[in-house]
Amino acid sequence: MQKGGVGKTTTSKNVAEILGKDFKVLAIDNDQNADFTDTFTSKRLIENSGALTLYDIYIKNASISDVKMQITENIDLVPSSIMLANVDIELTAKMSREYILKKAIDKVRSDYDYIIIDCSPSLSMTTINALVASDYTVFVTQSEYFSKQGLRQLQKTVDMVKEINPELKELGLILTMVDNTNHVKEVTEDLEENHYNILGRIDRSTVVRDSIMTKQAVFQSYPLHKTSTEYQEFVDNILKKIEE
Ligand SMILES: Nc1ncnc2c1ncn2[C@@H]1O[C@H](COP(=O)(O)OP(=O)(O)OP(=O)(O)O)[C@@H](O)[C@H]1O
Ligand SMILES: [Mg+2]
Repeated sequence: MQKGGVGKTTTSKNVAEILGKDFKVLAIDNDQNADFTDTFTSKRLIENSGALTLYDIYIKNASISDVKMQITENIDLVPSSIMLANVDIELTAKMSREYILKKAIDKVRSDYDYIIIDCSPSLSMTTINALVASDYTVFVTQSEYFSKQGLRQLQKTVDMVKEINPELKELGLILTMVDNTNHVKEVTEDLEENHYNILGRIDRSTVVRDSIMTKQAVFQSYPLHKTSTEYQEFVDNILKKIEE
């Protein structure tokens, strides 16, 4: 999670596909723009077909088993749609509205090794639901536009959610679209001084967008490219950190 266009969805896609090589993965698209959905299938097709989406889980009491679509042998997707934009307003009067996603996930948690939730850039009720449902969170930061202010804001939200989900742990952050080595050195030092754990660095590269355009992770379309190794290292660091 974090502000717009920093690479959250791209990170979620690459992590889900890398984990999907060896593990059972549930990918949840928790953003009304349905970009994560679109990295696996066609969001337009889903909207036109009237298939159930995450909206039906938040508002219509649907279960994840009703909504999920199988993408590969190991990866299932809970798709999103523009309908998700209505959730904040439609939930205002509902009791326990922060726990809807958690309750839905709890029913299928044991079917998966990892569940990846891609969030929107805004602090909405759906983002709170994701944090309440999660064991771990990863911050995504675009290195050039890195702002301590933004990170502090995000930290405040996480700290607030921890009051209702004390299990939530911050694994650290990933720096995306890195293209200035000197700048990134400064940012890294700054983050380390502030005790932030850097889990990965992804250089800016056209292979990232090219892969997404063909609905693939980088390792699938460019297995020998350096970016492919960068994403793999990021995932390895996450798994190491979880084991600690
Ligand atoms: N390492 C990279 N190199 C080049 N382009 C990248 C890289 N990572 C992401 N991008 C591109 O940056 C754009 C924004 O990425 P993405 O959609 O993942 O961001 P986001 O944080 O999910 O945005 P939003 O807040 O709108 O959901 C996309 O066009 C994506 O292809
Ligand atoms: Mg996104």
